[in-house]
Amino acid sequence: MDTLQAIEQRRSVKIYDPGHVMPEEDLQRLLSLAALSPTAFNIQHWRFVVVDDPDLRQQIRAAAWDQSQVTDASLFLVLCADLKAWEKNPRRYWREAPQEVQEFMMPAIDTYYRDKERVQRDEAMRSCGIAAQTLMLAAKGMGYDSCPMDGFDFDTVGRIINLPRDHVIGLALAIGKALHPAKPRAGQLALDEVVIRNRFA
Ligand SMILES: Cc1cc2nc3c(=O)[nH]c(=O)nc-3n(C[C@H](O)[C@H](O)[C@H](O)COP(=O)(O)O)c2cc1C
Repeated sequence: MDTLQAIEQRRSVKIYDPGHVMPEEDLQRLLSLAALSPTAFNIQHWRFVVVDDPDLRQQIRAAAWDQSQVTDASLFLVLCADLKAWEKNPRRYWREAPQEVQEFMMPAIDTYYRDKERVQRDEAMRSCGIAAQTLMLAAKGMGYDSCPMDGFDFDTVGRIINLPRDHVIGLALAIGKALHPAKPRAGQLALDEVVIRNRFA
């Protein structure tokens, strides 16, 4: 499947085969592809929590209005981000770049994020969203379906996964083998409503 087909055929699937077990090599491939997603200043601040403990999945399902994909999908990921990754030894994000690039990047990263809580959080959400789309398209290409999710209580799920205080949850992602296809698309807007040429009216 090529990229364009994956984009066209990706749908949010809700009903998964609970008996399917994702092979470890598929999991590693998916996570490796996710980690190629872009991040501003290459800070790679996403943290992918793979929830494979059935009891934790059950607890998350209870915090997600009993949505069955939480327990039934082969893979359930909570996409988090470290809000403070920018100040945690940032040189490692550029360690293979030429020295002059590193010398430019270190103060640039610091200036961009320091004392800017909103920027830190906005970047976290952007990066989780982009990584989620990478995962969903990669999953489609590998023969899986997926469902992005924010229909859960974030504080409760944070407690269940022991989210560090300086991290946030962006969204969750169920990935697995569909038992039922998604319903037909519900109501795509016309492009002329969502595309603006140059400036809003
Ligand atoms: C951030 C986000 C959160 C979502 N949360 C849920 C959810 O909790 N449960 C669910 O069944 N679908 C969820 N969806 C799926 C949307 O309902 C779905 O993407 C939308 O209806 C468009 O359908 P499609 O993805 O099949 O094209 C979510 C989608 C996004 C992008």
